[in-house]
Amino acid sequence: MPSITPSPSELPLLTTIASLDQATVKFFQNQYPDYDEHASEFPLWIDGVDTTYAPFIPTSVRRVLLALEMARISPTDKVLDVGSGDGRFCYAAVKLFGAQAALGIECEQDLVDKSTELATDLVQEGRVSFQVADLATWRDMASMQSKEWTVIIVYLSPEGGDDLCQWIQQEFKRGVRIVALVFDMKHLDGLHCSFEDSQEGIWIYEKPKN
Ligand SMILES: C[S@@+](CC[C@H](N)C(=O)[O-])C[C@H]1O[C@@H](n2cnc3c(N)ncnc32)[C@H](O)[C@@H]1O
Repeated sequence: MPSITPSPSELPLLTTIASLDQATVKFFQNQYPDYDEHASEFPLWIDGVDTTYAPFIPTSVRRVLLALEMARISPTDKVLDVGSGDGRFCYAAVKLFGAQAALGIECEQDLVDKSTELATDLVQEGRVSFQVADLATWRDMASMQSKEWTVIIVYLSPEGGDDLCQWIQQEFKRGVRIVALVFDMKHLDGLHCSFEDSQEGIWIYEKPKN
């Protein structure tokens, strides 16, 4: 399946980062000072958390911004992060990219508590929320069956991603942009990769225009 690597002019990331409130960026950067984003794909198990579809490995703030930029998040978007960790994608999508709303689904209660605390202002405004749930029950979950999402973030192990493949394909088909982190989804039938940065481990799947 053809894919396009964006040119720097298509991704004015440095401009975006420069215009961001640096305090906000540091906010998440400082959560896990030992985290090395250049180590192996799943470099560290934080607090011994190891769950069914993937351990908690936070995406670095830099890669969160890059991925959201590549996905062209805008105020018309509603973002769903499946396996939301400490909620950084939801937080950044709404706070920094102006998405209308974001929901993080996460099976670890501690991480949902942490996410809620870190995003208190946005949670209070009702623009960001977090739900404790096991993604394996996606067929029964109203939040995953909702048609309101325009962007879905997936950073799970390949096995975890594959368990969700039917749902991902169904959502892609109805026009949702899929953002895959670390593991690409090129093996899934029907998905079209519109942008990729394989060095950073970010793939955007989007229906071709026309
Ligand atoms: C690799 S981390 C990604 C965290 C976050 N999306 C980020 O990019 O920083 C994967 C997350 O998925 C969660 N997770 C794993 N299996 C899950 C399941 N069955 N149901 C819900 N969440 C799950 C883990 O607890 C972990 O927080």
